[in-house]
Amino acid sequence: MTASLAFSPDHVLAPVRRRLFGSFVEHLGRCVYTGIHEPGHPTADEDGFRGDVLDLTREMGVEVVRYPGGNFVSGYRWEDGVGPVADRPVRRDLAWRSIETNEVGVDEFARWARKAGAEVMYAVNLGTRGVAEALDVHEYLNHERGTQLSDLRRANGTEEPHGVRLWCLGNELDGPWQTGHKTAHEYGRLAAETARALRQAEPGLELVACGSSNSQMPTFGQWESTVLELCYDLVDHISLHAYYEPLDGDVDSFLASAVDMDRFIDRVVATADAVGARLKSDKRITLSFDEWNVWYLSRFQADPPTEWLVAPRLIEDTYDVTDAVVVGSLLISLLRHADRVAVACQAQLVNVIAPIRAEPGGPAWRQTTFHPFALTSRLARGQVLRTAVDAPTLPTARFGDVPVVDAVATRDDDGGTTVFAVNRHRTEPVELRVPAGDARTAEAWLLHDPDPSAANTEQDPDRVVPRPHRTEVADGVLRVVLPPVSWCAVTLG
Ligand code: AHR
Repeated sequence: MTASLAFSPDHVLAPVRRRLFGSFVEHLGRCVYTGIHEPGHPTADEDGFRGDVLDLTREMGVEVVRYPGGNFVSGYRWEDGVGPVADRPVRRDLAWRSIETNEVGVDEFARWARKAGAEVMYAVNLGTRGVAEALDVHEYLNHERGTQLSDLRRANGTEEPHGVRLWCLGNELDGPWQTGHKTAHEYGRLAAETARALRQAEPGLELVACGSSNSQMPTFGQWESTVLELCYDLVDHISLHAYYEPLDGDVDSFLASAVDMDRFIDRVVATADAVGARLKSDKRITLSFDEWNVWYLSRFQADPPTEWLVAPRLIEDTYDVTDAVVVGSLLISLLRHADRVAVACQAQLVNVIAPIRAEPGGPAWRQTTFHPFALTSRLARGQVLRTAVDAPTLPTARFGDVPVVDAVATRDDDGGTTVFAVNRHRTEPVELRVPAGDARTAEAWLLHDPDPSAANTEQDPDRVVPRPHRTEVADGVLRVVLPPVSWCAVTLG
C-alpha cells in the first residue's frame, strides 16, 4: 500500500501555537498528591515537589497546565488552599468521592508550574460559586498589592502577582454529573457576568467559556450556540472535551479517533461562526480543547470510588502502543486545526489518565503516550502547513471509511520541514511519499512494536520507546515505510 502527502512550503495554515502542548493537573486521585507533590520522596525539592516528575514534565515539553479541575473545581473553595498548611481545612470532594487535605493550593501549584516552565490556566468554580468568588481568586492571584486579598497572598509568601492570563469560566456545566449543573441559558448568563467582572478587574485576560463535555451530549450544538449568544463579546475561547477508548473491542474505530476529533472541531467552529454571523460580529472565537486523551472510561464507570479516601488510586490507566498511536494522531488533528484551536490540554499529567506514572516513594516513568507528545512538542516548530493526504481507506464501524494514513507537516523558521504521520492499519504497512524539496537526508523516529499491546511498566519502563527509523530521500521525494499501528515523526534535512 502507498499513500502520499502534498504540501507546499508557501501554503501556511497557521503558526504552531505552543499552547497546543498543554496538560492538566486536577485534584483527582494521585495527580497532585504523590504525583507532582510528595514531600517525603527521595527526589523532592524544598517545596515538596517530586524532582523526577518535574524533569519528565519539562522533557515532555508541556507549555501550559490547566488547574485545579475538572469536575473537582465545581465544589472547590480556593481559599481553603492558601495560608499555613496546618490551618487548612480538610474537606469532602464530591466529584471524586475523595478527601481533600488542601495541602497543595494555588500558590504551591503556581510555584510548581514556574519550575516546570509552564503557564498556569486557572479554572474558577461556577458550579457552587459565582462572580464574587471568581473576583476574589483573581484579586488574590493577580492584583499587585494594597488590597485585602493581594496582601494576603504577599503575607503567604508570594510577593509578586502570579499573573495568570488564561482563565476557564467553570467546567463541564452542561453535564448532569457536575456539581451545580446548569442549563445553557443559566450558564451563559453566569459566564457572561463573570467574564464582564473579570475584565473590569483586568481587561487583558483570556477567557474560556465551557462548551459541551463531549460531542455526544444531547445538548451538543445547542449548548454552544446559546452560551455564545450570551457571552460572545466577552470571551475569547470556547472549550471542547473528548476522551477515546476502544468500545466493544472495535480497535479499527479506536485507531480512527482523530476523525471524530476533526469533526468535533469543525462542528464547534461552524457553530461559533454561525453565532458570530447572527451577531454581525467580525470577532472570531477560538477553541480551547482543554481536555483530550485516551481514557478507559468504561472501566472507571464500572468501578467508581465508594470510600472517602485521601489521594486514592483512581483512573491509573496503563497505555499500550495502540493508545500511543491514537494520541499521536490526536496531536496531528490538533495541529491541522491550529488556525482555530488556540489551546489544548492533554488530560491529565501524572498518574490519572496520564503520560507520566509515579509510585509513592518509588520511581516515575514515561508511559507509551508520553513519547508522541514529547516528540511533537519538540519538533513541531514555526508554521503548520496546509497538507493533503492521499491514502487508501479503511472501513470503520463508527466513522465510516477513513484514510489509512493521517499526517500533517510543519516548517520551522530555518526552513526545516517535519512530518508527523500515523498508519492506522492493523496488519498492513504503508509506504508514505512526501515532497522533499531540496532536502537530501531525513531523520525519523518511529513508535511501533510488533506487539501493539506492549506497554511500559515500573519493572520495564522503556519497553516501548521511539526508535530511529529508515527513510529514503531521492529525486525530491521522501519515502518512509510506516509499519501497521505506528506513529512516526520525520524531519527533512
Ligand atoms: O479529566 C477527568 C474528568 O473528565 C474531568 O474532571 C472532567 O472535566 C471530565 O469529565
